Amino acid sequence: MKKGWIVVALTAVVPLCAQEVTTMQIRPQEGEQLIRKEIYGQFAEHLGTCIYGGLWVGENSSIPHTNGYRNDVLQALKELKVPVLRWPGGCFADEYHWRDGIGPKANRPKMVNNNWGGTVEDNSFGTHEFLNLCELLGCEPYISGNVGSGTVEELAEWVEYMTAEQGSPMAKLRKENGREQPWKVKYIGVGNESWGCGGNMRPEYYSDLYRRYATYCREYNGNRLYKVASGASDYDYGWTETLMKNVGHRMDGLSLHYYTCVGWTGSKGSATDFSDEDYYWTMGKCLEIEPVIRKHIAIMDTYDPKKQIGLLVDEWGTWWDEEPGTVSGHLYQQNTLRDALVAALTLNVFHRYADRIRMANIAQIANVLQAMILTKGDRMVLTPTYHVFEMYKVHQDALFLPFSLNGAKKVVRHDRIVPLVSATASRDKEGTIHLSLANIDLQQTQTVEVSLDGLRAKRVGGRVLTAPDVREHNTFDRPNAVVPQTFGGAEIRNGLLQITLPAKSIVTLTLH
Ligand code: AHR
Repeated sequence: MKKGWIVVALTAVVPLCAQEVTTMQIRPQEGEQLIRKEIYGQFAEHLGTCIYGGLWVGENSSIPHTNGYRNDVLQALKELKVPVLRWPGGCFADEYHWRDGIGPKANRPKMVNNNWGGTVEDNSFGTHEFLNLCELLGCEPYISGNVGSGTVEELAEWVEYMTAEQGSPMAKLRKENGREQPWKVKYIGVGNESWGCGGNMRPEYYSDLYRRYATYCREYNGNRLYKVASGASDYDYGWTETLMKNVGHRMDGLSLHYYTCVGWTGSKGSATDFSDEDYYWTMGKCLEIEPVIRKHIAIMDTYDPKKQIGLLVDEWGTWWDEEPGTVSGHLYQQNTLRDALVAALTLNVFHRYADRIRMANIAQIANVLQAMILTKGDRMVLTPTYHVFEMYKVHQDALFLPFSLNGAKKVVRHDRIVPLVSATASRDKEGTIHLSLANIDLQQTQTVEVSLDGLRAKRVGGRVLTAPDVREHNTFDRPNAVVPQTFGGAEIRNGLLQITLPAKSIVTLTLH
């Protein structure tokens, strides 16, 4: 064993008391890759009640707010340290015309949100409202530009409106609308799902459009843009290949969308009412993101061996049936401990490929798909997924510590093989080591032993997220059914960190 290695032994207790030891070897001296905080990015689309009701209630609302942004949600998001927020879509982005969302609200035209339930969009939340929200949250904005139904001129002028300091027609218009200084906008998406709702294009055609649209996204006053091409869905490796070949280093980033959805029965299935088999299928489908990412990265490596182009998983998460009784097309779903485990497992995977994955944006921030937050009138509830993001924030911008993990596995539907324990480790800027571990086994506790050889750790503290049932979720009447608890199952004894990892749980530990 190399000096300085941390050895983690994970014991998966299988039925009939058979014991299989899982070992995890952390190699801190090999850590060289930062887990960019942008991997903890969020996504807010004009879809259902994500924006209206979720983030924004308007200046005249009786719900407590700051300049129209609801205070409870603002506070909860500040706690999360949201690093980047993608907006206005999604599919909505390719029908969005930014000029409709600026100027006096009474003059803003209405439109029909064709993608999402035909809801009438009044454009009261537009460019100013979004970019000011990012300033309030202290996060980077990630603008998703309209290529599907918008013109080159329109996108070019949007960039100018947001980022040009003075002397240009768009800067003048912005100032007339009350914003003197330009905003800082770094990330610009050139289209979204251009193979589908963003224009049903072929990759060759989109590549040419990307080159054209991106050319006119100008950099004003030293504002450096990070231009993102609309990337593949899931297993569409041909799309990645064609874009790498035809666009290459004209893009800074290439996106990828991967949803954990459509169960083995062919339907998406209920968010809360699922069988144990459904649950294990979900874990398998979620973890399949790893080989998918690996294949996209292998293609990117061929054209970009220096890894200059980032892979941005700018939509990911679970996608279940809409909650009964909610508006069709609004993608409102509940969120259980199962979703929390999907979040933890996926973030663990992203950490391992941090040398290529520069950003990820879970879909979506409020009231849509795998949301952080659910709202109803003036009430707000934090989901189990929110709590994972909050527990994992210690890994933002920390150094990823490589490790190997060998342990018990389970075969689930579609012959996917899933490890029962998933883990990650990082060292933050102060030198503190954080471990996160998830046990997906519905019944069995895992005993974990961490060798502290070469480490000065004397104390360990941590929190655990679990519940008696994996279907457990937070509601407006029971908002604390699934919340992190102080974890008493870890102790340091005789140079060993010993952990008892409960069934269906997520634990984050800090070594002091
Ligand atoms: O997140 C919901 C939708 O999923 C987005 O609008 C679209 O990009 C994707 O298909």
